[in-house]
This record gives sequence, structure tokens and C-alpha cells, in this order.
Amino acid sequence: MTDFAAWTRACQTRIEGVLAAHLPPAHIAPARLHEAMRYAVLDGGKRVRPLLAFAAGEFTGADVEQVQHAAAAVELIHAYSLVHDDMPTMDNDTLRRGKPTVHVEFDEATALLVGDALQSLAFDILAAQPLTADANTQLKMLQLLAQAAGSRGMAGGQAIDLASVGKPLDLTELEFMHIHKTGALIRASVLLGAQCGLLSAATAGALDHYAKCIGLAFQVVDDVLDAEASSATLGKTAGKDAANNKPTYVSLLGVARARELAQELRADAHATLAQAGASADRLRQLADFVVERAF
Ligand code: IPE
Ligand code: IPE
Ligand code: MG
Ligand code: MG
Ligand code: MG
Repeated sequence: MTDFAAWTRACQTRIEGVLAAHLPPAHIAPARLHEAMRYAVLDGGKRVRPLLAFAAGEFTGADVEQVQHAAAAVELIHAYSLVHDDMPTMDNDTLRRGKPTVHVEFDEATALLVGDALQSLAFDILAAQPLTADANTQLKMLQLLAQAAGSRGMAGGQAIDLASVGKPLDLTELEFMHIHKTGALIRASVLLGAQCGLLSAATAGALDHYAKCIGLAFQVVDDVLDAEASSATLGKTAGKDAANNKPTYVSLLGVARARELAQELRADAHATLAQAGASADRLRQLADFVVERAF
């Protein structure tokens, strides 16, 4: 098995190529919208969601040529969510992935349309590309991503986030918000990658629990990094949660306890995979990465 860093780089290179191929060329009309879509998606980000899809696909013996399209679809939804999240009406951020945010580099209307168009492209890809031999499974995959992105998933979590500004949420409310705004897409990444291969009902349950643990851990660590890391390291403005008066795991529990909680979620994710063999090693390494990352 190649080392984790080399595997990560190979997956990132692959997904960059797939995304670049799926996105409309910048010279095709409407050129400014297409240019902004490519700006929002290409050449940046950790690509954690595609990495999770690839790892889950390895776990279920899926064909990487099929997994890559599911991975691209989730990354497009994620990129769209970042473009809208950064807009003045939401978090009002000017820096993303080390570059000016889309509404700053282009304009607000374009940022809105970039999000709309990236979301449509994600479902276009999921419908058009062969992801699995069974058409019924592919329909279920479309529905899975639709629900993860919608009002009972990411968009709903974002609504709760905005409604919670200045409010002291309790732990249950905060968990509910994080599971939706971030956990839902992370879970979809894992399950979509896995469904490109052969997934038994028993394994699906374990994988779902793994995905929920790291999905929540991902946002807990995001909260910690917002409070502790620098803007240069993050490629986005640090300290924005406190500045925007957002309830976070840091504001509720403090950094030390939030970090501990992330470690507990990592241990839970590992325990879930305890019965799985070496094919789950990338998933194990990604659980570690999600919790130990510095950016
Ligand atoms: C940031 O996500 C927004 C959250 C959902 C916490 P990432 O930390 O995955 O951002 P990129 O894709 O690497 O830029
Ligand atoms: C973003 O959460 C979640 C989504 C984009 C759905 P944050 O607002 O904490 O993400 P960052 O910190 O701006 O990346
Ligand atoms: Mg936000
Ligand atoms: Mg934000
Ligand atoms: Mg954040």
C-alpha cells in the first residue's frame, strides 16, 4: 500500500482532472459564469469529500473510474455551499482557499448563480455517468445526494446556523446544526463512494456510523481551527466565528474539550471499522486526518 500522502496526492490529481473535464470551458457562453464556476471549484481545497468517496470505493471494491464521478458530484455541491456561505448575506467572508471569494472576485449575482449552476451540474453528472451496474441503485444515489444537500441536510443546517447567531445553543442543538450543515455531505461522500461497489446491509450500517462520526468531527475541528489557526494556514479568514457571534463547539465547550470530543469521535469511527480488513485502511487514515489536520 502506498503511503497516505502519496495516495492523497494521486486522488487529488485525479479529481482535479475530472472536475476540470465536467465544468463547462471558460470560453463558452455565458463565459463570465463559466469562468466563475471554474474559479470556485478548481485548484484549491483539501478535497476531503472526494477522498472519502475514493476510500469508501476501495472498501467496497468499486471501480475508481466510476467512483470519480460520484466524488466530483459531492465536491461540486460542497464548492457551491462555500460560495454561498461566504456571501455577505451569510458569513460575509472575503478569503477562501487562499483567494478572494467569488462575490469579491466577480460580483454577488454571479456568486449566487455559480452556486445554482454547480448544484445542477452535480446532479447532471450523477444522472449521466455510469456509477454502478444497477440503475435502481444509481437512482437511490441521486436521491441520497439530493437529501444531503437539501433542507433536511446541508441547506437546512445552514439555515439553523444563520438563525442561531447570537444565541447560546445547548450541546444537542449545536450537534443537530453541525450534523446537518457539514455532516450530511460528508456522509453522502462515504455512502456514494461505497455504493459504486458491493455493499452489504450489515456493512452499510457500519459505514453509515463511521461517516456520521467523522462528519461531526470535521465541523468540530473546523470550529477549533477557526479559533486557533491563522488565516494564512487556513486560506480563509480566521476568527470569523467569534466575530460573527456564531455558536460553535469552541464557544460552548472551549478548545480543549472540543479537541477531546473530536478524538472521541475518531475513536468511535475506528471502533466501527474494527471488524473490517485492510480494505478499510484508507477510511481509517482519513478519520485520523479529519481530526489531526492543521488546516
Ligand atoms: C470548509 O470545508 C467548510 C466546512 C464544511 C467546514 P473544507 O475544510 O473541506 O474546505 P476545503 O474544501 O478544503 O476548502
Ligand atoms: C460551513 O460552515 C458549512 C457549509 C459551507 C455548508 P462554516 O461557515 O464554518 O465554514 P467555513 O469556516 O466558512 O469554511
Ligand atoms: Mg457558515
Ligand atoms: Mg463560513
Ligand atoms: Mg468554520
